[in-house]
Amino acid sequence: MATNPPPKLQVRSSENDRLKRLKETFISKFGLAPVFYARAPGRVNLIGEHIDYCGYAVLPMAIEQDILTAVSLNKTQVIQLANTNPLYPDFTSRISDIHIDKTKPLWHYYFLCGLKGIQEHFSLACPPGINCAVDGTIPASSGLSSSSAMVCCAGLVALEANKKTLSKVELAEICASCERYIGTEGGGMDQSISFLAEQGTAKLIEFNPVRATDVQLPDGAVFVIANCCVEMNKAATSHFNIRVMECRLAAKLLSKAKGLDWKRLLKLGDVHKEAGVTLEEMLATVEELLHPEPYSQQEICQCLGITLEELCTGILSQNTQDVTTFKLYQRAKHVYSEAARVLEFKDICDQTPAKAVQLLGELMNQSHVSCRDMYECSCPELDQLVDICLQSGAVGSRLTGAGWGGCTVSMVPNDKLDSFLSNVRESYYKTDARRAALETQSLFVTKPGGGAAVLLEV
Ligand code: GLA
Repeated sequence: MATNPPPKLQVRSSENDRLKRLKETFISKFGLAPVFYARAPGRVNLIGEHIDYCGYAVLPMAIEQDILTAVSLNKTQVIQLANTNPLYPDFTSRISDIHIDKTKPLWHYYFLCGLKGIQEHFSLACPPGINCAVDGTIPASSGLSSSSAMVCCAGLVALEANKKTLSKVELAEICASCERYIGTEGGGMDQSISFLAEQGTAKLIEFNPVRATDVQLPDGAVFVIANCCVEMNKAATSHFNIRVMECRLAAKLLSKAKGLDWKRLLKLGDVHKEAGVTLEEMLATVEELLHPEPYSQQEICQCLGITLEELCTGILSQNTQDVTTFKLYQRAKHVYSEAARVLEFKDICDQTPAKAVQLLGELMNQSHVSCRDMYECSCPELDQLVDICLQSGAVGSRLTGAGWGGCTVSMVPNDKLDSFLSNVRESYYKTDARRAALETQSLFVTKPGGGAAVLLEV
């Protein structure tokens, strides 16, 4: 029996409008009632962007918005997927023949990733067929992890359908690796917080192995999410994987220059660990050993003493092999400085000095500047929204999630909340018809929510 598995909660669909509607949809689709439900939440990352895949701790919290799936089993060995959102068409396939196309990030592929991950983990040759109706409340491509929540929810569905148990940590690790079937080389933040979140607390998530520590956010301020309304799907473009590869190449060049085992080392965090120095010293090492001008493929091959062929097949991912230049200095500077900001953020939350809110806000602002200038994962709309949030009374504001679109997260003193919301509405949403139409789901206060769970009707 796995220790600390996701909880099984008892629910009554008659007392919960959303469950009731989902149950009705399920019955009209499949002609019978669901036997269980599973939910997995999205997340907002407070600080620590693009460093999980470098091995560094991050500081997210789960949000209330989630993916909820109603499930029943079938004896025909098929998977039948329906979605309450008409934009996402139904899908059917044989359950033992799951195919995920990396070139097209269709909604049901995320679900299939989770199913496949569990089937492979348990080597399930003949899993039962399942009927699923999915209902999502996380705005898609908004940096709030709707895709990972889908993968996690599907993982939990498969676990329950096959009557298996796993701990939250095992599930998080499996779901982080099976999401790579879709082609993105993400870290494990989204899946870890989706399973390990607990109501009322943010979490410091560390990796290798995955660990979560409570972080009590100070009283006196709330976190507000605002979507800039530019959609970014990290599987649809190569921005995300290029950054992962730039960090990998920076790790290799730094470790080679320091006489470490560069062939084995993949992450900037591993180089730091092996070098046995502080983050500040790693920042100095970057200054000393890397240059700010972009590196060509040829220069990288020369530094590592490898051929172009070895670079492409041995180090780069499939969708980054035609990238010709890589910014290693800027990416490594961001990663080491952001890793240090996460630890400072946690220390301030633990020690609650008099100016805690102010200090946390400053760290969030520094994080945004670094994401914008060093990691280049912002966009003009995100930058404009961050500026408006700061002018509207936030003490800190930054992009959250992968970036290149999606949401900002701002820390707003309680007494400024009302004027903050009305200012942001006027200055960002009301100025544009498309944004105005999306406003209600785009601007909201958020509190740390609970993690993934199986829901059983009593
Ligand atoms: C995406 C990935 C995460 C993380 C963030 C950026 O959400 O899935 O693993 O890398 O981007 O911090």
